[in-house]
Amino acid sequence: MQEILKDHPYITELLQIESENENRRDFHDKSHPLLLKMGQDKDFLKLVLKRNLLDKGFQTHEWSEYNIPFFYIYETDDFVLKLHVFPRNKEKIDGLAAHAIHHHNNYILSSNAFFGSGYESMLFDLKPDVDADKMTQMGITRHFHQKDWNPSVVNAWEPHIVFVPDALSATLVLWTPEEKRKTDKLRQHPLLKPIKGPLRKAIHTLGMTRKFGIAEDHTYQWYPHPEKEGFQAILEEEYFAPSKAAKGPKVDDYSMKMIGFFIQNADLVDKELFEEAIKQPSMPEYMKKVLQQLINDEEVEEVFHIQEINVPQKFYLREDILNKAKKK
Ligand SMILES: [Fe+2]
Repeated sequence: MQEILKDHPYITELLQIESENENRRDFHDKSHPLLLKMGQDKDFLKLVLKRNLLDKGFQTHEWSEYNIPFFYIYETDDFVLKLHVFPRNKEKIDGLAAHAIHHHNNYILSSNAFFGSGYESMLFDLKPDVDADKMTQMGITRHFHQKDWNPSVVNAWEPHIVFVPDALSATLVLWTPEEKRKTDKLRQHPLLKPIKGPLRKAIHTLGMTRKFGIAEDHTYQWYPHPEKEGFQAILEEEYFAPSKAAKGPKVDDYSMKMIGFFIQNADLVDKELFEEAIKQPSMPEYMKKVLQQLINDEEVEEVFHIQEINVPQKFYLREDILNKAKKK
């Protein structure tokens, strides 16, 4: 369905910038003015809605708590452009970490916070060591709010954390591998984590991890240790296990309500499009319900950040990170 956007001037320009900048960080930096334009252009954003709501792939996507609710925009073997939605916390706790400190392996990420409050974030030392007790000492390299640095960039392998925003927020996100390689298309994945599952395992078995430039076998995430100095490392697959398993009708409803609330509050309602979308046989009931509310001008219920995350203390705060971070 991305054909809808193929000849759009923004996409043509993005493809042009991509082809002219072999260096991936240059590609990111040079695309930022364009990302800003996209985020301010409601006609473009409505085309993004169309690209998704009429697309069987989007309609049948299986949501889980692991996935941030999103729209696909455009992808090639060299980049993926998406829209992400971040809910606020119901109790408005100041400085609540949204998840564990993590990195995106070999992917560089640009984010344009185009809607809502935006979020506060921190970047940490690159490639931190994990000791025998799986403890890590790392320092904060940058502490910022998206309203002061936009678009912002997270480099490949760079640990970072996002704090739950004050109000529902949305970002346009551009992902690329850190280097342009012939094998990049192997790593193309609609959910945008480097290769998972059988293919990844096959590559490890062949001892080709380095050659393909994908994730090391052990990828860690971190959280401030409740007692000890520093951060406790946890294997990525262990941290994500419960949220990946959380799927089904409740999570579908939650994800679609968040998307509907975003559409309504970002003033992107397109009744003609939604009428067309709900007539499609592949459109699931839970999506229809929200689209019908938008058609009827009924308020879509706001849904909130899931406060408990998979760390022993269930959640942690900005202060906990500041207390445990290595002082420079
Ligand atoms: Fe991230």
